[in-house]
Amino acid sequence: MMNFGLMGFGTVGSGVYEIISSGKAGKDYNIKKILVRDPSKPRKVSAPGELFTKDAADILEDEDIKLVICVMGGMEPEYTYIKQALSLGKSVVTANKEVIAAHMDELLDIARSNGAYLYFEASVGGGIPIISSLTDLIKLNTISQVTGILNGTTNFILTKISREHRDFADILKEAQEMGFAEADPSADVDGYDMMRKISILSAIAFGNMVDESNVIMRGIRNILLDDVLAAESYGYKIKFLGQGVRSGEGFNVCVEPALIKNDFVVGNVNEEYNVIMAQGDLIGKLCFMGKGAGKNATAEAVVSDVIKVMSKTDEYSSIKLKPANSEGARFEEMHEYYLRVSFNGYYSLSNTLDKISSLIKRNKIRVYNNMLFMITEAVNDSLMRELCGQLAESGRDVFFARIENNVL
Ligand SMILES: NC(=O)c1ccc[n+]([C@@H]2O[C@H](COP(=O)([O-])OP(=O)(O)OC[C@H]3O[C@@H](n4cnc5c(N)ncnc54)[C@H](OP(=O)(O)O)[C@@H]3O)[C@@H](O)[C@H]2O)c1
Repeated sequence: MMNFGLMGFGTVGSGVYEIISSGKAGKDYNIKKILVRDPSKPRKVSAPGELFTKDAADILEDEDIKLVICVMGGMEPEYTYIKQALSLGKSVVTANKEVIAAHMDELLDIARSNGAYLYFEASVGGGIPIISSLTDLIKLNTISQVTGILNGTTNFILTKISREHRDFADILKEAQEMGFAEADPSADVDGYDMMRKISILSAIAFGNMVDESNVIMRGIRNILLDDVLAAESYGYKIKFLGQGVRSGEGFNVCVEPALIKNDFVVGNVNEEYNVIMAQGDLIGKLCFMGKGAGKNATAEAVVSDVIKVMSKTDEYSSIKLKPANSEGARFEEMHEYYLRVSFNGYYSLSNTLDKISSLIKRNKIRVYNNMLFMITEAVNDSLMRELCGQLAESGRDVFFARIENNVL
């Protein structure tokens, strides 16, 4: 019998409790204690009252508890509890992307030196088994990129803009009313959630922790319905992507809107679905698609990790991590870009055109409603960012997104 402690009984924790209680995972598991903030709170999923505690020591100091499932969320106190559990030789399964993105190397070291296991499948892509797949792929492959739609809320918003021809703000409001987007949507729409997930995948793929400050991050708050329609008229979908790309001796990580051709798989992953594409030198390009969040899908990934702990082999043994460096991203690749720039009167139009004339494809430029829409020639990524920064500084409303052709 494996006794374990469950830290968190919200969406994911209650789902884990239901799967374990159903016996689907086997009869050898016993949830001995459940840590919550407020044990007296009414709950949608019921569990015997004596299981609940608000004292983490009831789990961490119980020698019968050999495994701790951490599904609370946020950096603290979860980071401290995970460290304490592993230091005491207790295995840990967590869904916490924030803790893993920042401390995966340290926590794996503590686990390995204390004969414990740390698994975190549900921290990226909810129910999609991407971490275990990537840890398998890196055994034989040199990974050149990991690219994904890793946030269901923003994919849902972009899908609705495209299908219903409504504005971003309008759809965000509806998603908030449906409980699908947070009241403070920043983690989703500004890219923080995706940044942590792509940092975890990139660290595993390239063998190096990712310094958050090195991730180029641009959210989708300023996207217009006009951008979605213009992109579609050029034959593309706009998707919000996280991407880690090997570049020379290092790698770049970014979270940005990108244009993807209509006939690519990644461009056709819609609604709240997630997709992750990995590219290895032997295996080529592989896609993993599924539900990136939600009670059952995420809890399934957590319980699968619990089963891995029982097998007593380190299934993450291929993950080797060098510390993050803060050299800064280079972004010297070349891409074509979609660019939308506002102008105000003839002088402003000709001035804007002067600034960008060497970049644009003449047959792909459109003018509408005091805005210029265009597709550029292949441009160095850093130069494009610099140019768009200058245009924005001169008071123009600017939206740009690279055209991503290297996906499935
Ligand atoms: N929801 C998803 O679909 C999903 C998908 C992938 C990954 N995740 C990750 O899974 C984790 C849990 O997410 P969730 O959606 O289940 O969160 P949630 O619904 O907000 O539940 C959080 C649970 O943790 C407890 N808790 C929070 N802080 C605590 C503290 N300081 N001390 C004791 N208990 C505390 C809460 O107690 P009370 O009930 O008393 O408030 C609650 O039971 C997060 O790391 C999240 O990023 C979630």
